[in-house]
Amino acid sequence: MNNILVTGAFGQIGSELVPALQKKFGVDHVVAIGHHTIPKDFQGIVEQAEIGEGDKLEAIIKKYSIDTVYHLVSLLSAKGEVDPSLTWQINMGGLKIILDLAVKYNLQVFWPSSIAAFGPTTPRVNTPQQTVLEPTTMYGVTKVAGELLVAYYHKKFGVDIRSVRYPGIISWKTPPGGGTTDYAVAIFYDGLQKGSYECFVRPDTTLPMMYMDDAVRGTMELMEADPSKLTIHTSYNLAAISFTAEELAKEINKQLKVDVTYKPDFHQAIADSWPQSIDDSVARKDWGWNHEYTLPKMTETMIIALKKKFSLA
Ligand code: SER
Repeated sequence: MNNILVTGAFGQIGSELVPALQKKFGVDHVVAIGHHTIPKDFQGIVEQAEIGEGDKLEAIIKKYSIDTVYHLVSLLSAKGEVDPSLTWQINMGGLKIILDLAVKYNLQVFWPSSIAAFGPTTPRVNTPQQTVLEPTTMYGVTKVAGELLVAYYHKKFGVDIRSVRYPGIISWKTPPGGGTTDYAVAIFYDGLQKGSYECFVRPDTTLPMMYMDDAVRGTMELMEADPSKLTIHTSYNLAAISFTAEELAKEINKQLKVDVTYKPDFHQAIADSWPQSIDDSVARKDWGWNHEYTLPKMTETMIIALKKKFSLA
């Protein structure tokens, strides 16, 4: 029986994972947790709670006989630097609450880590699964600490918790929201709405990225994978495509005239501390991960979807 709870249900990933879970398991089997950002047109079960409200979350788990949690709540890298204490509180406090509830109610849990777990001392090209984790952002610190915590709960309490290190996720449903990789989303938003975009990283900045549909499918496939095949209990490297900011601008300009200028700010140092490409061969071997979206396919899909969203089609 799959009764699923999604925290951060209206964030970038939640907004697309929730409908995919509803489609697969039925609208009555997915409970979306939000706080002040619940869209008016959301269709499905929704409960309001802050991630620090353990008692409220426990009551919701009991009310709906929840057996699976996708714990997505998080402050992202750039926003996290504005208030590091709050970032620790939300990212780590929330995870600890969910893990303790997972022990008590025997929940299967998905929790996302990120390329932000890596840092300037990590090999930047083809970053291996097992490598140096010395991030320089609070967001990255919570990802490394979170990875160690989930591995601990797996070993000590046998919690079935699965995790991936997402690259930058490119998607159209929610506007960019506080991540360093968000220039790869904002360029589409501004490009379509204004015909120009001022990019906050240098043109040669290369980061690992992935289109949302791949991320959602991969996440659900990992949750369904045979547990005996899983060899990583911290978080799996996950990759799809890598390109420079300039390459993305060029690809977009094949279909749309967007004047891109570059004005690097504090995001640049964060981007420079992350890998350019990721070796995700362990995920591919253990649970058959494979991406579908190339740079051209992702670009075309984004432009079609956003034209529709902005009634430009
Ligand atoms: N997309 C995230 C960020 O830029 C990385 O996990 O913060």
